[in-house]
Amino acid sequence: MWTFSAPLMAYGDNAIEYLAQIQGKKAFIVTDRNIVKLGLVKLVTDQLDAVDIKWEIFDEVEPEPSLITVKRGGEAVAKFQPDWVIGVGGGSAMDAAKAIILLLARPDLEPDALSVSETFNFRAKAKLMAIPTTSGTGSEATWAIVLTDTVLNRKLGLGTTECMPDVAILDPVMVMGLPPLITADTGMDVLCHAIEGYASTWGTTITEGPGLVAARRVFEYLDKAYKDGSDLLARREMMYAATLAGMSFGNAMAGLGHSTGHALGAIFHVPHGRTVGLFLPYTMEYLINSSEETTAKYAEIARFCCGASGPDKECAKALVARVRSLAKAIGQPLSVKDCGIDKVKFDAEIPALVDRALNEVMTITVTRVPGEEDLTKIFEYAYAGKPIDF
Ligand SMILES: [Fe+2]
Repeated sequence: MWTFSAPLMAYGDNAIEYLAQIQGKKAFIVTDRNIVKLGLVKLVTDQLDAVDIKWEIFDEVEPEPSLITVKRGGEAVAKFQPDWVIGVGGGSAMDAAKAIILLLARPDLEPDALSVSETFNFRAKAKLMAIPTTSGTGSEATWAIVLTDTVLNRKLGLGTTECMPDVAILDPVMVMGLPPLITADTGMDVLCHAIEGYASTWGTTITEGPGLVAARRVFEYLDKAYKDGSDLLARREMMYAATLAGMSFGNAMAGLGHSTGHALGAIFHVPHGRTVGLFLPYTMEYLINSSEETTAKYAEIARFCCGASGPDKECAKALVARVRSLAKAIGQPLSVKDCGIDKVKFDAEIPALVDRALNEVMTITVTRVPGEEDLTKIFEYAYAGKPIDF
């Protein structure tokens, strides 16, 4: 048996007005200072004010939120005792909101104990809402939480299936101001979620549907949103694509582009979407070279999204070429070298990169699971910008 989870979604122009329909008395808003400064939190509080819902803002979330920040949020939420916790922001704010609502239910726990094995029943106290301000992580439609342990310098994948938001509000007004570089970085993350979710060995027909449509929308609208941030249609469709891709990979898991990209991002501090997007075509080639099953999946995506026709292998390769041409069109790096990473430093870190990738669950959700030797070569080829030929 499989299960598929997704939040209730209020979406479209003016979807933010859904806030005036919620039942409750107090909302705890988890966000970051920049989102407050941009006036996006005010769009939320204006709606809450209109229906006399009291609110408090916790705006201390940093990129890749730390256990310490989340603990502070847990202390603040315990004092406020809201009936809604609302994450407003990118993946970091939404993930922090998920952790903070768990701490509301279990204030006795340390944030790094917010794991799959616990039952929290936080809905006895409050409900969880996510309002994304980027079109990328899909965190509004997944239950996972990524936090950083700044003491031991490690990233922690936490959360439980309970952490799926009750409501996600997808209003394009929240993403209209995204700068081009963030639009590009986060957009490549969406493409990676869509393609990897679709091709994951943990995927099913139910998870393939949203992944396939998300990929098509990214190919159609990402460069438009990048080139003209005021293009409402492109912004809206990219926002929907991000959530659909989140539903796909959140239920089916991502793949090798994510495990290798995560490793690079963790060691060289390159943004998540940029790194996973960079590794996506290389890891697709690696799978095409040995797996008819994954090649057929990529061919389906290529036919649906890029008008490809002919044998599976040709279509799958056309998809790889399309991923690279999109990345190029929106100024994304096509190789690790393009990221400005020094060759000597990179070579010195290859064992650590391989080790990190080997320890990611996303390395095993593909039809060809690489070992140390292949991963080493994948990193070397990706540095040089050389297509994978093995
Ligand atoms: Fe991602």
